[in-house]
Amino acid sequence: MSVAIYPGSFDPITNGHIDIIKRSAKIFDEVIVAVLINVDKKGLFSIEERINFIKDSVYEINNVKVISFNGLLVDLAKEYNTNIIIKGLRNATDFEYEMNMAYMNKELSEEIETVCMMSAPEMIHISSSAVKQVAKFGGNVRNLVPSCVADKLLIKIKN
Ligand code: COA
Repeated sequence: MSVAIYPGSFDPITNGHIDIIKRSAKIFDEVIVAVLINVDKKGLFSIEERINFIKDSVYEINNVKVISFNGLLVDLAKEYNTNIIIKGLRNATDFEYEMNMAYMNKELSEEIETVCMMSAPEMIHISSSAVKQVAKFGGNVRNLVPSCVADKLLIKIKN
């Protein structure tokens, strides 16, 4: 059985992430969407909120599981008996960032393989930070994130 891990901070999940999850679920038997901590980022949503958004957004896809993990990605991969990490690439900046991350993960665990998937062209401008910024200044985010996220984002930012 092929199992792949799709990690990220998902603060919050966007339609760009959903696109990668849906396409990965067609390739692998099981996709584990893992909410991990990026120590360089200050979060808006709690880990529990992020997980609930993802679960609500992908409930129709049977072979997707949503979890959180506090630690190294390579240790999570070991826990799930897999060596496959999925990453979405939107542009050259993502490529450079992901290349470094892939080499670091390889350094930590020789058998890890990072599989990169090109983002859908209509999604390449979407990022979690951009969505939060648009929402903060009252812009419409409904085409950028699942509806459960859009609703909560407006409430969170008002507060
Ligand atoms: N569509 C839309 N946006 C996308 C995207 C896609 N297909 N792919 C990436 N993004 C965006 C994300 O929303 C995020 O945007 P933001 O910076 O505005 O928040 C940005 O691109 C980076 O995303 P991602 O690659 O998921 O990085 P991340 O910072 O969210 O998460 C971890 C990185 C958590 C996977 C990484 O820090 C990690 O593995 N941590 C665990 C500790 C570890 O093992 N460290 C050793 C490796 S260095």
